[in-house]
Amino acid sequence: MMKKPTQLLSLVFVFSAFGVLGAGDKPVRKGGGSSQPVQTSKCNEVPAHPFDLILGRPTTASVTVSVLCYDDAEGGIAYGNEGGKLALKTPVRRFKKGEPAEIVLPGLQPDRRYIYQLRLGHSQSAEIGFHTARPPGSGFRFTITADSHLDEHTEPAIYQQTLAGAVAAKPDFHIDLGDTFMAEKHVDREAAAKQYLAQRYFLGPLCQSAPLFCVLGNHDGESPRGRGGAADSLAVWSNTMRKRYFPNPVPDAFYSGDAAQHPEVGLLQDYYPGNGKAPRSAAEYGYKSGMILGSSGHLRVTVSPAAAVVEYLRSGEAGATSGGRMAEAVAQTYTIPAL
Ligand SMILES: [Fe+2]
Repeated sequence: MMKKPTQLLSLVFVFSAFGVLGAGDKPVRKGGGSSQPVQTSKCNEVPAHPFDLILGRPTTASVTVSVLCYDDAEGGIAYGNEGGKLALKTPVRRFKKGEPAEIVLPGLQPDRRYIYQLRLGHSQSAEIGFHTARPPGSGFRFTITADSHLDEHTEPAIYQQTLAGAVAAKPDFHIDLGDTFMAEKHVDREAAAKQYLAQRYFLGPLCQSAPLFCVLGNHDGESPRGRGGAADSLAVWSNTMRKRYFPNPVPDAFYSGDAAQHPEVGLLQDYYPGNGKAPRSAAEYGYKSGMILGSSGHLRVTVSPAAAVVEYLRSGEAGATSGGRMAEAVAQTYTIPAL
């Protein structure tokens, strides 16, 4: 999706979508998925917090900070190259309770570490670091998670441990492979809306410093298949909710991608190869042998000019603790040499 991509950055945004509806106005499961289990977990009831931050759309010269305040506030973002000396500032603005705001930090230098801090009248964030896009041929690291679900099979402490492990990797960016919002499995849109907010709570500690790229899962509600893509459809609602809370790239001077304009929602902010001919099995992807490892965990991919080293860090090994925290271990690793 970046205009000078490596193969590793070819994200698979599988399901396209499509509107603008308020929470609670339509049953989520209308028109499809009626035989599917409903999300009943309490995972979406996250602790109250004053704000959360998600980075997106990193380039050589900018990054987008999605700021969500849970009370009305006023303030802005200070940023710079050196902690404690954040000389650059975005204009002071109002943040309305519950309405995410996208603030672009412009005029950045490529391949530089930056520090930013949200400064509100009554509170402020920590000073948080991120790295602008590096030049082609240089090393970088990213992390991957998938299928967090936040359903009855999800243990929030394990999910938080997994994401803390990704924080420790200090990735340049993070890719989430979907089944993150599970919109089609909620009983109604009010319940489904909570999961977008819960994911900001869980993903925030990682993605306030590692810009997030969201790939869509088949349960995230954005597929029009079986439900259509009309203005009041689940697909339109889910696409609107994801874009509201998690800014993904759009085709511009830095990114390529899906430039198609949907009549209800405009740019979908999804990306997928093969014109919709997605493989339907692991074998079709080319995975015909190997070891299947269980969840939970995250992938850590370290790319250098010589190779890409892929490590699977498994979370929550039974009985394993480290300093009072559940330990994680490298369960598998493989190396892809440079071509
Ligand atoms: Fe899944």
